[in-house]
Amino acid sequence: MAAPMYHPTAQLGKLTFRHDLDLSTEQLTAVLDLAGQVKQSRQRFATALKGRYISLLFEKPSLRTRMTFELAAKQLGGDVVAQDGMIGGREPLKDVARNLARWTDAIVARTFSQQTVDDLSRWSGLPVVNALTDQYHPCQALADMQTIKETLGKWRGVRLAYVGDGNNVAHSLLLCGARLGMHCAVATPPGYEPNPEIVNKAEKLAAASGGSVEIVNDPASAVKSAHAVYTDVWASMGQESEAHERHETFAPYQVNEGLMAGARPDALFMHCLPAKRGLEVTDEVIESAQSVVFDQAENRLHAQKALLLTLLQ
Ligand code: CP
Ligand code: NVA
Repeated sequence: MAAPMYHPTAQLGKLTFRHDLDLSTEQLTAVLDLAGQVKQSRQRFATALKGRYISLLFEKPSLRTRMTFELAAKQLGGDVVAQDGMIGGREPLKDVARNLARWTDAIVARTFSQQTVDDLSRWSGLPVVNALTDQYHPCQALADMQTIKETLGKWRGVRLAYVGDGNNVAHSLLLCGARLGMHCAVATPPGYEPNPEIVNKAEKLAAASGGSVEIVNDPASAVKSAHAVYTDVWASMGQESEAHERHETFAPYQVNEGLMAGARPDALFMHCLPAKRGLEVTDEVIESAQSVVFDQAENRLHAQKALLLTLLQ
C-alpha cells in the first residue's frame, strides 16, 4: 500500500498552533507583546493580511471564539469562510484538509477530539489553530495571559488559582502560566483533576521558569493569597448528560464572596465565559469590580490577531 500523502509542508516544522506548546516560550511572549501593539493601533495592521483567507471549522457552539476570529481576519484585511458540523462525517478528514489547503491559508478548528486538530494540521500542511478541543483551549489562555499582564503588570510571581473542573481551560492555563513564572494552583473535586501528563509538563516548565504548580482538592487552600481566581463551567460542551451529577459534586467549588475573601483583597475574578451564574460563580462575584471577564473577552480579539499575524506573515 502506498505511504500516506501527508502535505509536504506539514513535515517542515512550519509554525502552527494545535496546542499551547506549539509556540516556544519566546514565541508566546512575542505573540503577547504583539497583541498589546495591535490593541493600541488597529489602523497600523489594517491591511496586514490582505488577500489571506482563513477556514473556520466548528464542531461545537461558540460566541467569542468564532466572532473574534472573524473580526480579527477582517480587521487585518483578510477574510474567513466558515462551516459548522462534525469534521470527517461526509468525507474523510484527510480530504477535507487537502481541499482547504487548496483554497485558504490557515485553518481555525473547534473540535471534540484533539486528534482532529492534529490530523487537520498533518493533512493540510497549513497553520492550524486550536479554537478549543476537549483537551486544550490555547487561544483563551493567550487572552488570559494578556489580561493578567495588563491588570497586574507582570506574570512572574503571580498566584493564579483555578477552581473547578480540571478541563481544557485549566490545561492551557497551566501550560502557559507555568512557562511565564506564575504560581498556578488548581483545586478540583477528587477524580476531576487535570490530566497528569499535562500537569507533569507544566511542573517541568514551572521548574525552569521559577513558577510552580499545585494540584489540590481544597478550594480554600488554592485561593489563599491568590492574585487571580479563575473558574469555568462544571460541565463542558459534550458533557451535558453529566451536568446534574457534576452540579452536586462541584457545589463546594463555587466561586462566591466567601471563597474570594480568602484571596488577596484586590484579587481578580476571571472566567472564560460563557458563565453559569449560581453554579460555578455567583452573580455578585462576576458582576463585582474585581471581575475582568469582559477584558478577557475583548483580549480574545487582540491576542488572536497577533496569533494570525505570527502564523501567516
Ligand atoms: N470562551 C470561549 O471560548 O467562548 P466561546 O465558547 O463563546 O467561543
Ligand atoms: N470548558 C468549556 C469552555 C468553554 C469556552 C467547554 O469546553 O465547554
